[in-house]
Amino acid sequence: MNDVPDFLRRFVTDPLTRLLMSVWRPTDTSMRRWALASVIGNAGIVVTGVTVRVTNSGLGCSQWPECNGGSLVPIAHPEHSPLNQGIEFGNRLLTFVVLALGAACFVAALRLVPRRRALLRIAAVQPGWVIVQAVWGGLLVLSDLHPAMNAGHFLLSSGLLAAAVALYMRSMEGDGPPRRIVHRDIRNLAFVLVGAVFVLLAAGTVVTGSGPHGGDDKAPRFAFSIEDVARIHADLAYLVVGLTFALLFALHVTDAPGRARRAALVLLAVELAQGVIGYAQYFLAIPPLLVALHALGSTLVWIAALRVVFLLRRRSPLQPPAPAAELVTGPSGTAPAPEVTVIASATDRAGANGTAEYARGDLPTP
Ligand code: HEM
Repeated sequence: MNDVPDFLRRFVTDPLTRLLMSVWRPTDTSMRRWALASVIGNAGIVVTGVTVRVTNSGLGCSQWPECNGGSLVPIAHPEHSPLNQGIEFGNRLLTFVVLALGAACFVAALRLVPRRRALLRIAAVQPGWVIVQAVWGGLLVLSDLHPAMNAGHFLLSSGLLAAAVALYMRSMEGDGPPRRIVHRDIRNLAFVLVGAVFVLLAAGTVVTGSGPHGGDDKAPRFAFSIEDVARIHADLAYLVVGLTFALLFALHVTDAPGRARRAALVLLAVELAQGVIGYAQYFLAIPPLLVALHALGSTLVWIAALRVVFLLRRRSPLQPPAPAAELVTGPSGTAPAPEVTVIASATDRAGANGTAEYARGDLPTP
C-alpha cells in the first residue's frame, strides 16, 4: 500500500471513509441526506420492479431465493433467456441497496447526538420492512406472479416509501410539539386526500392486474374488463385532483403560509402530469415505457401528497449547536451560567423565527 501515490490513496479512501463516518458520526445534515437517499432508493425500486413486469421478466428467475436450477445467480437455462434472468436478478440485487439505505438510516438515527427518539422509531421501521418486502417478492414469484400478490407488493412499497418520507420530513424539523399552521378542517382535508391517493394507487394495481403486463405469459390475471377498471381508476384520479383543488382553494382563502400552498401546488402539478401519462398509456394500448413512467409518476404523487401533510404544521426548528462563547455567560473565571439559560435562548430564537414566518391566516393550536 506504501507504493500507492498519496493522491490515489486519498481518492480511494476518503469518499468511503466520509460515507461511513456520515453514518457512524452523523450530523443533522447527513441524517437528512440518508433519509433522502432512502426516499429515492425506495421510489427507484418501484420503477425497476415495474420494469421487470413490462419486460416479461417476472419469472426470469422462477425460484426463490435461488434464481434457476438451484443456483443463487443466473445460469444458462433452456426456458429463461439471459436478458430476462438478468433483469429479474438485477431487481433482486436492488433489495440489498434499499436494505443498506434503511440500515444506514437506522444506524445514523441511533448514533445521532443528541438522540432523537422520534427519528429512531421511524428509522427502525425501514430495515424490517425491506425484509418483509423481500419475502413477499419471493412469494410473488412462487405464486406465478398472481396479480393480488403483485398489488400487495406495490402497496407495501408505498408504505415503506411513506416511512422514508416521514423520516426525511422529520429530520428537517425539531422535536417540539407540532403546531398547526392551517385550520383544523384544512388539515383534515389533507388527511382525506392522502387516504384518497392511497385508494387510487390500490385501484391502479387492479388495473395492472387486469391488463396485459403480468410479468410473464403464464401469470394469472384478474377477470375484470380493463376498460371498466381503468374507468373507475380514472374517476378516482378525478376525485383526487378535485380534493387537491379544494385544498388549494382553502389554503388560498385562509391566506395560509406559502410553504403549505406551494406543497399543494406541487401535488396538483404532479397529479396532472400523471393523469396525462395515464390517458396516453390507455389510448396507446399500454406501451411498456409509459407504464414505467406511470409507475414513477405514482410514487411522485404519493410523495407529494405525504409532503403536504407534513407542511401543514410546524415544530420548533432544529437547534444549531450553540457557539462556545454563548455557553459562558459570566466574566471569565466565573462559573458558566446554567445550561437552562442557553436552551431558553435558543428556543426564543426559534420562536422569533417561527412567528415571523407565519402569515395572517395562521391559527393558534388549541
Ligand atoms: C394521479 C393520477 C394517477 C395515479 C396516482 C395513478 C396510479 C397508478 C398506479 C399505482 C398503477 C399501478 C402500477 C403498478 O401496479 O405497477 C396504475 C396503473 C394504471 N393506470 Fe393509473 N394513475 C393515475 C391516473 C390514471 C389515469 C387518468 C388513467 C387513464 C385511464 C390511468 C390508467 C392506468 C392504466 C391503464 C394502468 C395499468 C397499467 C399496467 O398495465 O401496468 N391512470 N396507475
